[in-house]
Amino acid sequence: MLKIAIMGAMPEEITPILEKLNNYKTIKYADNEYYEATYEGVEIVVAYSKIGKVFSTLTATTMIQHFGCDILLFSGVAGGINPSLKIGDLIVATKLAQHDLDITAFGHPMGFVPGGSVFVEADKNLIELSKKVAKELGKTVQEGVIATGDQFVHNEKVKDNIVKYFNADALEMEGASVAVVCNALNIPFFILRAISDTADTDASFSFDEFMQSSAIISAEFIMKMVQSIIGNNK
Ligand code: ADE
Repeated sequence: MLKIAIMGAMPEEITPILEKLNNYKTIKYADNEYYEATYEGVEIVVAYSKIGKVFSTLTATTMIQHFGCDILLFSGVAGGINPSLKIGDLIVATKLAQHDLDITAFGHPMGFVPGGSVFVEADKNLIELSKKVAKELGKTVQEGVIATGDQFVHNEKVKDNIVKYFNADALEMEGASVAVVCNALNIPFFILRAISDTADTDASFSFDEFMQSSAIISAEFIMKMVQSIIGNNK
């Protein structure tokens, strides 16, 4: 049976997903809780990792290696960089980079370490599917570059540098680490974010105000994706 992993970083990002699953089992593993359910003929495993690249790496790896998922979908919120992205807008990552990975002192580009690559590309089929789902819902979903780092960005200068080095459209704290894990373990992945703030000096206030509503927007779209995946799997 197809097994779909759905992850977020914070409880608010996965609660709307758990609410859509009638019955789920809670499993404690690797210092976290994982929620398993069967849903319309597929298996689903859900978890929030906690914030940041390290915790999201652990959770993504666990979902693949321990829970045996076949695909991984991430749902959550992001800070918008591209001015066309407004609060509540959805962005699908085409490729992701770690904006705080810096060994430029040795002549390497930002985000690069030997053996790795600056960008990791998300699964093209899942991106195509998201376009189909968006069209069916009459929704706009922007595609773009997502930059990930272990910091809540609330500063124009930091934002400008992320644009300069990565030409990123949005930023958050987990996508690129999840991408590295899925890419290495050959698991198709999809990273969706709804904008909660614009990573400027007001970002923490905007985040507090809109994080929950934007998390719901992202989670609802992810569940539509799940239904579409299920439809295609029949
Ligand atoms: N997630 C949502 N907003 C963010 C920001 N401004 N910085 C990092 N991660 C975020």
